[in-house]
Amino acid sequence: MDNPFTPTFGVIPPVLAGRDQELTAFRRAIKGKPGEPGRAMLLTGPRGSGKTALLNTIQAAAREAGWVVVAETAHAGLAEDLTLTELPLALLERDPHAADNALTGISVGALGFSGSISRDRTPKYTVRPNFRSQLTALAKTVQADGDGVLLCLDEVQRASAEDMERITQAVQHMFSEGRQVAFACAGLPSAIRDILNDHVTTFMRRAMRFDLGRLTPDQVSRAIADPIRQAGRRIQPDALVAAVAAAAGYPFLVQAIGYATWDAAGTATTITKRHAAAGITVAKHETARLLHEPALHDLSPRDREFLDAMAKDDGPSRIADVAARMGVTQSFASTYRQRLIAAEVIEPAGRGLVDYAIPLLREHLRGQL
Ligand SMILES: Nc1ncnc2c1ncn2[C@@H]1O[C@H](COP(=O)(O)OP(=O)(O)OP(=O)(O)O)[C@@H](O)[C@H]1O
Ligand SMILES: [Mg+2]
Repeated sequence: MDNPFTPTFGVIPPVLAGRDQELTAFRRAIKGKPGEPGRAMLLTGPRGSGKTALLNTIQAAAREAGWVVVAETAHAGLAEDLTLTELPLALLERDPHAADNALTGISVGALGFSGSISRDRTPKYTVRPNFRSQLTALAKTVQADGDGVLLCLDEVQRASAEDMERITQAVQHMFSEGRQVAFACAGLPSAIRDILNDHVTTFMRRAMRFDLGRLTPDQVSRAIADPIRQAGRRIQPDALVAAVAAAAGYPFLVQAIGYATWDAAGTATTITKRHAAAGITVAKHETARLLHEPALHDLSPRDREFLDAMAKDDGPSRIADVAARMGVTQSFASTYRQRLIAAEVIEPAGRGLVDYAIPLLREHLRGQL
């Protein structure tokens, strides 16, 4: 029996728990007319909360409805890559005349005996395609078949403000032109806050926004038990309770615990509390290895000290307390605060407060994992 769980980032899990609201809004949006609120969606959540898995599921729903999907992970030069590569690729795939047009051009040119024809064939104005013109061309092409275009961007915290401006303005124009276009993007909460504060993206502020917080115990319970049952095993109630509690509502941990617990059972068809306990230990190590260690790796010893000083609190920390614990001035502590926010390890949590941006980082630093 194959292990049904998917403790890999970006992979759609066997049961996508607690995302009905988002998927319903999206399905409704692409079935409906331009102007449906769900045609612009913004997903935020910490690392491992399931942003990419949800974006991928949204893409699958769009394809199922016949829509063309253009999906990218943000990087330097995002808008240009979309303009020069991704959109032309989609156009080549969907435009049945993309190749014919080129051929017609050549054969007419080859006749070449009539000066008037060749003059007619030389465009008087040259148009350089940009992001908006390419997206419009794609939307027009697929609209002929009654379909639309979904533009999906992941990790938008890595996109430049200029690129986000260019992309969202183009999408906004297409919305007001009544084109069949939808836009879904995902990123880390603090970076999204920056994008929303930017005056250029009123459009983004009006987007439907979903914060992928923790799953409820019920949702986690189904996300663990259903795949086990469907894969031909059963899990004892007390084992399930232990697994659900340890997952703490956190999607990555749900998969990691499910996976390790299934493995711990070996060839047994019933998963017991002992298997779950072993699985939970392995899963917590995996979380530390895949989530915490990479995030801490490039930090300076002083940055680490700041994080350790925060771990004394059970919730958000006051900068003033952290500075006192480190024995430094507040303005000194503020420099570290800025750096750690930029590194996406902590985030502002209200006036004078910061909190960890990575799930279970507090427990990791306290040595509790
Ligand atoms: N709703 C869900 N229910 C159960 N498991 C989920 C759910 N969403 C995602 N997962 C699982 O959680 C893990 C993390 O998901 P994903 O890669 O989508 O997170 P992410 O928010 O994109 O993380 P990052 O910010 O690091 O890119 C994956 O193993 C995925 O299969
Ligand atoms: Mg992701």
